[in-house]
Amino acid sequence: MLKERKLIIAGNWKMNKTVAEALDLVHGLKLELANVKEVDLVVCPPFTALSEVSKVILDCNIRLGAQNMHEKNGGAYTGEISAMMLKEFSVRYVILGHSERRQYQKESDALISAKAHGAHASSLKPIVCVGETLAEREAGQTEKVLETQVRGSLAGLSKEQMGETILAYEPVWAIGTGKTATAGQAQEAHVFIRRLLADLFDETVARRARIQYGGSVKPANARELMSQADVDGALVGGASLEARSFADIVKNSI
Ligand code: 13P
Repeated sequence: MLKERKLIIAGNWKMNKTVAEALDLVHGLKLELANVKEVDLVVCPPFTALSEVSKVILDCNIRLGAQNMHEKNGGAYTGEISAMMLKEFSVRYVILGHSERRQYQKESDALISAKAHGAHASSLKPIVCVGETLAEREAGQTEKVLETQVRGSLAGLSKEQMGETILAYEPVWAIGTGKTATAGQAQEAHVFIRRLLADLFDETVARRARIQYGGSVKPANARELMSQADVDGALVGGASLEARSFADIVKNSI
């Protein structure tokens, strides 16, 4: 399908895959996706598998992403990983503000914005996640929540930095639940987010920005979701853990 922006489809492996399992998966992906040029492909393994996975994808069309980073470049922050450390493994993207981190690690929009600035300072492209919970949607607060998250998480970014930033709309109620947003609901939220970007930055930045959809994306629903005008890719959880299903999502999106 012809899209205004190049699709970017990323697999968020979350806290899954030993190094051996990660290697199995990435070798499978290489075989399945070697000829795909129409879509930017990204895998986001756990930190412990980045080094080995990076070696396997050096010579192919799959790029590496991390699932989180600390906002500072170094220092006394036990257990944390910096952007500079990620760069050692040729990491290009980093997921920031995933709803699981907002929920379990209590990450705030201010922290996510600090991380986004840290990522840009090291030339990593942030994938900034936003999305409402079921209670918020049912209370009619979806737009208010998205606006707060988008404004807060992108605070202080320049137009140039926004040009190197990906957004991911991930309605919390659709993550890992098998309940996908309908294509119409996804499109509506993406249009709203793009309008916010025009307001925060300008029309050109908004038109160029890529906004992924995430939440129970599967081979069976990928085509309809990706065919929406303002859906520019997917952030895939469960279905990215198996080479065939991730590859089928990619192929069904082209
Ligand atoms: P699922 O695809 O498992 O619903 O996860 C989506 C997600 O959280 C990707 O970041």
